[in-house]
Amino acid sequence: METILSVNHLNVTYVNKSRRVMAVRDVSLSINKGDSLGIVGESGSGKSTLAMALLRLHPKGTEITGEAMFEGKNLLTISEKEMNELRWVKLAVVFQKAMNALSPVHRIRQQIEDIYRVHYPKASSAEIRERAMELLKLVNLPPRVYNLYPHEMSGGMLQRVAIAISLLHHPQLLIFDEATTALDVVTQGQILREIVEMEKTLSTTRIMITHDMSVVATTCNKVAVMYAGELMEYGMVTDVLTHPHHPYTQGLQRSFPSLKGDNRKLESIPGFLPDLSKPCQGCVFAPRCPHATERCFSQKPPMFKTGESGGAACWLCEGEENGK
Ligand SMILES: Nc1ncnc2c1ncn2[C@@H]1O[C@H](COP(=O)(O)OP(=O)(O)OP(=O)(O)O)[C@@H](O)[C@H]1O
Ligand SMILES: [Mg+2]
Repeated sequence: METILSVNHLNVTYVNKSRRVMAVRDVSLSINKGDSLGIVGESGSGKSTLAMALLRLHPKGTEITGEAMFEGKNLLTISEKEMNELRWVKLAVVFQKAMNALSPVHRIRQQIEDIYRVHYPKASSAEIRERAMELLKLVNLPPRVYNLYPHEMSGGMLQRVAIAISLLHHPQLLIFDEATTALDVVTQGQILREIVEMEKTLSTTRIMITHDMSVVATTCNKVAVMYAGELMEYGMVTDVLTHPHHPYTQGLQRSFPSLKGDNRKLESIPGFLPDLSKPCQGCVFAPRCPHATERCFSQKPPMFKTGESGGAACWLCEGEENGK
């Protein structure tokens, strides 16, 4: 399997006047071509920070260490010019409020043509129109949208335009950060099905940041679980969602309605995220973990192997590695 993105020991620290927020801490993960990786974790766990660091969209002054190798280049250190060449063509990202990035004074057609011509200056209007029509269909919008101004459309329609624009150049790596969360369930389902179909033919790779476990279960093959800026567990969706190893993943799962439709009570995980401006000695989840022992508070667990291709940063998994 060809690795398309390999993130190694990534740390992202926001630096404000009074404090330093360590929003992503020592995260390592790799994604193969054609994978669809869901990143889940409660609000504030560093998911968007991770995505923004990969695309270098973080605020000025943010400290970033580690590496993120994409096609032999470290995204964290390449020049701004090289990054601009990759953005939209090879790497595209859609945020939850991506629609806000559309210009209110230009028709959708004009904006799509402008973006298209950044990379293909000689493209004809007819050629761009043809591609745009394919994409509007994919995101379930009628062709007339092409000639509308943003204020003539609803928020959900605009978000779908933003998703269509992200696909304009067939990016190899697509990052959706809650990009479809605000859409109604039917529209979201239709768009995701179309995108999953499209990926099969183009072998696109997708990172799907979402609060919705059912979206991960239906549209991703791998999953990474983050908590307080750290990676808690990762693996194949079929393994992690059916047999979560990490107590945090188990807690997250209990807080979502069962995918099988079982009628059980939903439980939230008691407690709060820790203060990310303070260093943490042991396991960052220990204060909320029902299984925590003394060692969990003093020694950080390494990532233990779970099954064929998964891992969990929990002392409970020590020894499981060798099938013990
Ligand atoms: N510009 C910033 N300056 C300081 N701290 C920030 C900044 N942006 C985010 N943070 C903090 O970094 C942490 C991670 O935030 P992030 O937005 O990455 O979380 P998230 O997992 O995407 O959450 P959500 O699910 O709510 O989108 C949070 O504690 C947040 O308060
Ligand atoms: Mg976020």
